Amino acid sequence: MSRAEALYWRDSRLYVLDQTRLPAQTVYVTCNSYQEAADVIRTMKVRGAPAIGAVAAFGLVLAAREIGENRETLLARLREAAGELLDTRPTAVNLRWALERLLNRAAATPGGAAELRRVLLAEAEAILQEDVAANRRLGAYGQELVPDPARILTHCNAGALATVGYGTALGVIRAAREAGKRVRVYAGETRPFLQGARLTTWELMGEGIEVELLADSAAGYLMARKEVDLVIVGADRVAANGDVANKIGTYSLAVLARAHGLPFYVAAPLSTIDPRAASGRDIPIEERDPAELTHFCGRPVAPEGVRVWNPAFDVTPHTLITALITDAGVFRPPFAESLRRVLKGGREG
Ligand code: MRU
Repeated sequence: MSRAEALYWRDSRLYVLDQTRLPAQTVYVTCNSYQEAADVIRTMKVRGAPAIGAVAAFGLVLAAREIGENRETLLARLREAAGELLDTRPTAVNLRWALERLLNRAAATPGGAAELRRVLLAEAEAILQEDVAANRRLGAYGQELVPDPARILTHCNAGALATVGYGTALGVIRAAREAGKRVRVYAGETRPFLQGARLTTWELMGEGIEVELLADSAAGYLMARKEVDLVIVGADRVAANGDVANKIGTYSLAVLARAHGLPFYVAAPLSTIDPRAASGRDIPIEERDPAELTHFCGRPVAPEGVRVWNPAFDVTPHTLITALITDAGVFRPPFAESLRRVLKGGREG
């Protein structure tokens, strides 16, 4: 198992690992209100699509505690809190998925406020359990695609830290290792927030999985030297046609993988698929604080006043993706039909 859980719920409080302090310190932040839950998402103390969805779900559980016994007042408060939680980060669809799941469950539950509070907590706890189970299933499907031995390039952190546990892209790598395969991981540093350098290396080293850190800009040369067998990344939102929004730099890796004839896999649970986004053009892309680029560890590294473009994600067109690895199986192109089928409840072989 991983060294630290991204989040957990205990004694009516939400605990969130502050990932901005990793790898130096393992510190948990306590959330007692939905505003505090929104804050840990906004400030990226918790990050990764499934993990922020789970924190948002418990945010609603916390919001429900603020209201007395009136059912309608409670439902109105929940909608207000959901709006605020949704505004924290726009790209990862798991956030909307989790909030809508809880809101729908509450609206469909007869009874007073106490009963709604009970079902909200049960639903949020179900999301925790289901996420780990989905990642394990996804890992089992995905590891079949991993040769033995394998040199795997990944980007950002799509591991236990980005989910409730086990991870998506790193879940596939874990599963391959558990199947006895000899895996070696290359982790791109993932400028500018350094999720690869700070988190992926820490997570994999903690489990004794061989990992080597490289600058994002070294990926092409690594491929040209034939030192990588496949690329695997996670996703923040998968559109209905199979286009994938993921951490900025993912698209560049997909282009490089195509140029070098390497498989490019995306691992994501069904909760990351957005049937309302027809293609990548419908996915909102978060733009973050220019200071992430103009400063490094709080110190300026660019001329004061320089204009900055800092998209946190990019869109990889489905044409560059070899396969989507999900908890319902592995999908190959064309993706639109299999995604439609699976969202209606089918399974892929
Ligand atoms: O900005 P972040 O760190 O939240 O971005 C995370 C990613 O891009 C991950 O690859 C994605 O959320 C998948 S996590 C299983």
